[in-house]
Amino acid sequence: MALSHFFIACFALLGHSKIWVVAFNRLLARNLPRKPVKICELGILILLALGPVVFLGWTAAALLASRFPMGLATSLLDVFSATPVEIYLAVCVAAAAWAAPVWIWRFAFDHNQDRQATRKRRHLVLAKPSDTPLATHLLTRLLTYIPGNQVLELEVNTKELRLARLPAKLHDFTIAHISDLHISGQFSSAFYERVVEEVNAMQADLVVVTGDILESKHCLDWIPHTLGRLHCENGVFFILGNHDLRIGDTQALRNRLENAGLIDLGGKSRVLNIRGTNLFLAGNERPWFEPLPVIDQHAQTADFRLLLSHTPDQIDWARKHDFDLMLAGHTHGGQIRLPWTGPIVAPSRYDARFASGLFHLPPTLLHVSRGVSGIQPLRLNCRPEISRLVLQSAAPPKTTEHAAGQVEELAASHGIS
Ligand SMILES: [Fe+2]
Repeated sequence: MALSHFFIACFALLGHSKIWVVAFNRLLARNLPRKPVKICELGILILLALGPVVFLGWTAAALLASRFPMGLATSLLDVFSATPVEIYLAVCVAAAAWAAPVWIWRFAFDHNQDRQATRKRRHLVLAKPSDTPLATHLLTRLLTYIPGNQVLELEVNTKELRLARLPAKLHDFTIAHISDLHISGQFSSAFYERVVEEVNAMQADLVVVTGDILESKHCLDWIPHTLGRLHCENGVFFILGNHDLRIGDTQALRNRLENAGLIDLGGKSRVLNIRGTNLFLAGNERPWFEPLPVIDQHAQTADFRLLLSHTPDQIDWARKHDFDLMLAGHTHGGQIRLPWTGPIVAPSRYDARFASGLFHLPPTLLHVSRGVSGIQPLRLNCRPEISRLVLQSAAPPKTTEHAAGQVEELAASHGIS
């Protein structure tokens, strides 16, 4: 009897975790003042930590009161006589019962096409934890010593994107997609210089940076010798993300980036004439910055529409405005990916659904980068990533197809100190 109630408590604990992780994800997906968000974050983390204590305590108390097996059932049926803990436990059981089929469905029918699209994957170890110049903060240094922490690594991916409406002239057009650099001083500028070298080595036709670029004022001077060294014939375009707000004066950041040769696409659009085709390019920084880019007659007559957005939550807007390809970041792949559940925490109203990867949501193909870094220097089973996207004109693959593409994997170590 005690064992069955222990399992009920464990099931309820799953529901408890689901409720508060969803609350956490939705909270961070919105444009809210930072201080109340931090307080709510702390409250949610405390509640998550208290869950095991409350549920195991409930099991022990019920066992001692010898209320098994009918006590729980009676309480669930008669909420007026149930204790607050029992009512909450019933809510958690219901949440787990709702979440479990979703988890199973996602596991069985993975709609993420990232594996099928990846043709080449190169692992770089940018530095060892003992490399002094890399992680400049003590806490960061300590976290880098955690076994399996991949925060000092980089995955350089080549992915083939099949786009049904891609003009034939843009076949094999390449885009270097980088996101979420989070330049804050936690890592030295040498870390970012190394990332930029890798992006330049891609020799992409277009380079895009999808937000969360820099969040400490004192790192503004790093821009010329980091992102300022990015080069691309057709331009290096950027938008900002929520962490860029932490600098205070975001216009100063935009100015520095533009002075370094990058092109601000936040809330703007433009048409690039490439290979005799018109490529409509737009930047959506919602919900953190206004305005939305104008979708005018240039978009209507363009041969291909490409959208940069910091958060994948803007996918509905992209679909509504008929974008062919949307590039996003923000969710960092979840940063911690467990073997069975995958990513759990992702600041999105879709939770971890678009944590990273490639998703075909007609008419739009969405690519979400895992990003380069993050303010929490911990990544497990979730390497930082930069991507070379090769656009290909073809019918999109079926979403439930599981056959992985032949991936050429290479590993290399490059200390930078
Ligand atoms: Fe980010």
